[in-house]
Amino acid sequence: MKIPVNEPLIGDREIEYVLDCLRTGWISSAGKYLEAFEEAWASYCGMRFGVAVSNGTTALEIAVKASGLEPGDEVILPTFTIISCAQAVTYNGGVPVLVDSDPRTWCMDVSQLQAKITSKTRAIMPVHIYGHPVDMDAVLTLANHHGLLVIEDAAEAHGAEYLSGRTTIQPEWRRCGGMSDISAFSFYANKLVTTGEGGMVLTNDPQIASRLRSLRNLCFRPEKRFYHTELGHNFRLTNLQAAIGLAQIERMPETIKKKRWMGESYTKRLKALPGLTLPVEEAWARQVYWMYGLVLDESTGLSAVEFAKRLAERGIETRPFFLGMHEQPVFTNQGMFKGEKYPVAERIARQGLYLPSGLTITEAQIDEVCQAVEEALAAV
Ligand SMILES: Cc1ncc(COP(=O)(O)O)c(C=O)c1O
Repeated sequence: MKIPVNEPLIGDREIEYVLDCLRTGWISSAGKYLEAFEEAWASYCGMRFGVAVSNGTTALEIAVKASGLEPGDEVILPTFTIISCAQAVTYNGGVPVLVDSDPRTWCMDVSQLQAKITSKTRAIMPVHIYGHPVDMDAVLTLANHHGLLVIEDAAEAHGAEYLSGRTTIQPEWRRCGGMSDISAFSFYANKLVTTGEGGMVLTNDPQIASRLRSLRNLCFRPEKRFYHTELGHNFRLTNLQAAIGLAQIERMPETIKKKRWMGESYTKRLKALPGLTLPVEEAWARQVYWMYGLVLDESTGLSAVEFAKRLAERGIETRPFFLGMHEQPVFTNQGMFKGEKYPVAERIARQGLYLPSGLTITEAQIDEVCQAVEEALAAV
């Protein structure tokens, strides 16, 4: 493809830090970069503790486990998300309960949460989709009222901000991943901060933090190493990966600036084209355009699959939107989500895709992508 959907940006500082690991022999899951990376990311997001893990999926898995889920407990999450969210619940014996998407932000429709709360509900898992925050006040108020935990999935929203308390006299901007009991991040190569593969769980609770550390490291006991009272995982991240991540955090202001420039540049060029719904930024949000998505109106006569094919013919790589959890055979074949309908998620899954959105994208490339979008629409 002439223009890839993503390319990571690796600078000299990453190389310097990785070389330091190689030269000093600190290449495994202990070392100064790991500690510095955990501390720097927790502090950037406004949380006390960071526990680095092997990827975002494992971060969610131990985040849910550390929340103390009992078999049969329910966790409310958006249907429109990656499977990692739902499987973190089922692997821990819980039951995922779904809500539809907000048609503007594509994040969970918070107005549907109340109706899904039962005596078995234990947690809510908001997922900040494609770089735009969930309307967290609604989630936190409900969780507070019903004594529920909030497990935030901020994998796609590094550095995105939410205006908390907007109806009060003291609203406050808070970072995604810093507003809940436990939050999870991915540092896969397409994320704003990458470690190649990697993830992190954040929390303010020292007991949860220590349980997360134990779960990521086979539940070794500090006082009696090869003696186990519980089963854990090897979900460790290496010092080498953390070295890359630390250098990436140091560049966060420029990274966000670049992403916001990219998002605004796309919107400026595409907003006049009929038949497209583009990403929004609500007044209470500062979004980071992790991926620049668009949804085709049905009036175009095009599905996302057909549109992606037309863009690919013009050298433009895209990715389809998520397919809702209630449409996943792995769940429906077990009789889960029977008869459930989520019209917004169903529509955007079929009509949505995202355009090249990497940190290395240039103005000329954005022009070329937008030209291709226009041609692909006109070719109907
Ligand atoms: C919202 C969300 N959660 C979790 C993950 C899982 O992260 P990973 O790919 O690092 O396992 C992703 C991956 O992109 C994601 O988009």
